Amino acid sequence: MDDYHRREFIKTTVPGLLGVMLSLPALCAMATRANAFDGRLKADRSMHWEAFLEAVSKEAAKQHLDRWNEEKYLQKIAGLTKSLYLEDPVISQAMEKVAVRLKKGWVDFHDLEKNLDFAVCLLQFDVNEVIKPHNHPGMTGLILCASGEIHAQNYDLYKTIDEREVDGVRTGKYLLHQSGNSTLRKGDISTLTSQARNIHTLKASMVTQLIDIFTPPYNQERSEKSCWYELDEIPVAGSRTIYEAHLRE
Ligand SMILES: [Fe+2]
Repeated sequence: MDDYHRREFIKTTVPGLLGVMLSLPALCAMATRANAFDGRLKADRSMHWEAFLEAVSKEAAKQHLDRWNEEKYLQKIAGLTKSLYLEDPVISQAMEKVAVRLKKGWVDFHDLEKNLDFAVCLLQFDVNEVIKPHNHPGMTGLILCASGEIHAQNYDLYKTIDEREVDGVRTGKYLLHQSGNSTLRKGDISTLTSQARNIHTLKASMVTQLIDIFTPPYNQERSEKSCWYELDEIPVAGSRTIYEAHLRE
């Protein structure tokens, strides 16, 4: 009986073992590169992509703890992101792909990493391209400006004036408090949490590339919950930071 079990064990694991053996050289190369100098380049201490991902993974896993602090998490991954070696082949190849798409008139994004805990995405804006105000339900976000220049404005929900759903169509009227207003240039970072600065809008003044980290990433539920807003151009009477907003379809 024992022999039977042993033979079965060997038989069923041989294909898996072969797969692991075939992957070993690539895994070893990646691990060696990630672990050299603690995953950092010797000259300026910037981080390789693999080491960066590993470090972010460790921090992002803490989101499942009861007392996870989003602001502290953002401080940690901001430090990691500022150390990221932007000329790493993973990033430079993604930059080339979006640059080619831009020449063809396709301005979009390129996923660099997506797992259950977080996603990293390269986003490219053309001159004057705008992403209208939108929220990120239950999500923590960090944006690094990798190149170019972009104006970021963040808002918090100040008051819900009216919100309803009729025949499956959501409508809403709100007051939003502007909690962030900054111009990002290469190396600058903008952040939002599930509770603060969660609504933002972006407008690029030149061709701009951003690296986004969202924790957790968008999934179907979070995408369905997310909202787009139309804001008044000027604040409400008597305020310099409160704007009336409506849900956009
Ligand atoms: Fe966003």
